[in-house]
Amino acid sequence: MLSKVVSCVLTGLEGEIVNVETDISNGLPSFTIVGLPDTAVRESKERVKSAIKNSGFNFPIKRITINLAPANTKKEGTHLDLPMAMGILSASDQIDMKYLKEYAFIGELSLNGKLNRVIGVLPLVISFREKGYKKIILPKENMEEASIIEDVEIYALENLFQITSFLQGDLKINPSANKTNTINTNCLSQKVDFNEVSGQETAKRALEIAAAGGHNIILIGPPGSGKTMLARRFPTILPDMTLEESIEVTKIYSIAGLLPSNSSLIKTRPFISPHHTISKVSLIGGGKIPKPGEVSLAHLGVLFLDELPEFQRNVLEVLRQPMEDEVVTISRINATITYPAKFVLVASMNPCPCGYYNDPVKECSCAPHQIKKYLSKISGPLLDRIDMHIEVFPVKYNELTNKTKPKSSLEIKKKVDMARNIQLERFKDSRIRFNSQLPPRLIKKYCKLGKEENSLLEAAFHNLGMSARSYNKILKLSRTIADLDGSANIKVSHLSEAIQYRSLDKKFWAL
Ligand SMILES: Nc1ncnc2c1ncn2[C@@H]1O[C@H](COP(=O)(O)OP(=O)(O)OP(=O)(O)O)[C@@H](O)[C@H]1O
Ligand SMILES: [Mg+2]
Ligand SMILES: [Zn+2]
Repeated sequence: MLSKVVSCVLTGLEGEIVNVETDISNGLPSFTIVGLPDTAVRESKERVKSAIKNSGFNFPIKRITINLAPANTKKEGTHLDLPMAMGILSASDQIDMKYLKEYAFIGELSLNGKLNRVIGVLPLVISFREKGYKKIILPKENMEEASIIEDVEIYALENLFQITSFLQGDLKINPSANKTNTINTNCLSQKVDFNEVSGQETAKRALEIAAAGGHNIILIGPPGSGKTMLARRFPTILPDMTLEESIEVTKIYSIAGLLPSNSSLIKTRPFISPHHTISKVSLIGGGKIPKPGEVSLAHLGVLFLDELPEFQRNVLEVLRQPMEDEVVTISRINATITYPAKFVLVASMNPCPCGYYNDPVKECSCAPHQIKKYLSKISGPLLDRIDMHIEVFPVKYNELTNKTKPKSSLEIKKKVDMARNIQLERFKDSRIRFNSQLPPRLIKKYCKLGKEENSLLEAAFHNLGMSARSYNKILKLSRTIADLDGSANIKVSHLSEAIQYRSLDKKFWAL
């Protein structure tokens, strides 16, 4: 007899419906699965077989063939255990096919028949909904995560026996309540505040702009000037995520297997700060069983690279693609996988090996070639992708001892939120969320300059030897500065502030 059970597999975050077709016929007993990688097949077979037996059913001593259609793509994920077990049970008449028709199934099985938590449930459920499958049976431990999604019926169950009882009507279970509003967050406890940082008004202003428009920023300055301190406070002024953004981020953590089972929706923007010894694969993703890398875990949040020149140069170079395209593409033998990776890069560095090049007080002890070698770790193309280059000077004594408390994160965030709302309104009919994402054709539309502003930019273009990319970046940056000022037009003051944030490479890298 032949049975058909619906499930789904993911390539990156994209889901594809899989029909699990099971055929049981007389003949020499065998168990064949078509359409899975070899090692996965072996393990899956064992689990399915034992789970069926240990749940009080018979494992048919016949010729069993399971085809995971479409067969041409290799599927990954232990979550196909459950649909395969259901296929065998219905093809062997232990449960009537008619009960299964309405449902889609995902879940890994234990040898004793228990349903185990699987990764990627959020993108899987979203895919089911998109393809019109609205009743989904999945592991109890994945309930929190699945209940974020509206407009689907989630039945979160514990084991194979419970599922068959439920399907046959012996056990009454209601679908899990949709919980978009009552979910936990995984807030990184933000106990830091910008009011702890004395002085550094320029750097703080720059970070405010970076947060408002989603612009990449690099902080350059001597040891102890507060670069790391400033960067660690950056998340406290980022605009809140919309529900749509939260779901997008949570999907990535779901397939990375990083969602704690008691928390369903990530509500705070990620702040990812990898150590400088990180490898290429950990940074951009990939591996034997492909996983999103740090750049994707930083999606819609911040990637903080402290002490930038300490990172291996070839590792830094792989950042160029996601910084340009907002996604990472990982090539595999059978397919390419893309993961989203729209992050704000915050980087910090010293200007030279000793740290005091260009310091107002301390003498730099490096030879010119040493400085050159040090700075050359940051390639031109990478630097060009960073919108704002900020010099951080040592904090002055009177700034440290000043009695007036610096502006708090909350005060700065209010301004950021205001500018963010202008952008949400501006881009409401598109997929763009921040000014930094404006493509060239829209830059023309939204970053119009007056006559005076045009000549200012032209002069700067020639004086600073700008690339076309820096030209566009300056326009986008000016747009954000104007938004923070509540100004519909980009004025000379906005533009000149933006230009100033792009002129530092001349000072250091043109050595
Ligand atoms: N502007 C400031 N206001 C108050 N404290 C500061 C300030 N700048 C630095 N500090 C103090 O100095 C310490 C070192 O600062 P931080 O680690 O941020 O320096 P850094 O610029 O990252 O230095 P390095 O280049 O060595 O990494 C901070 O933990 C803080 O205690
Ligand atoms: Mg530091
Ligand atoms: Zn030096």
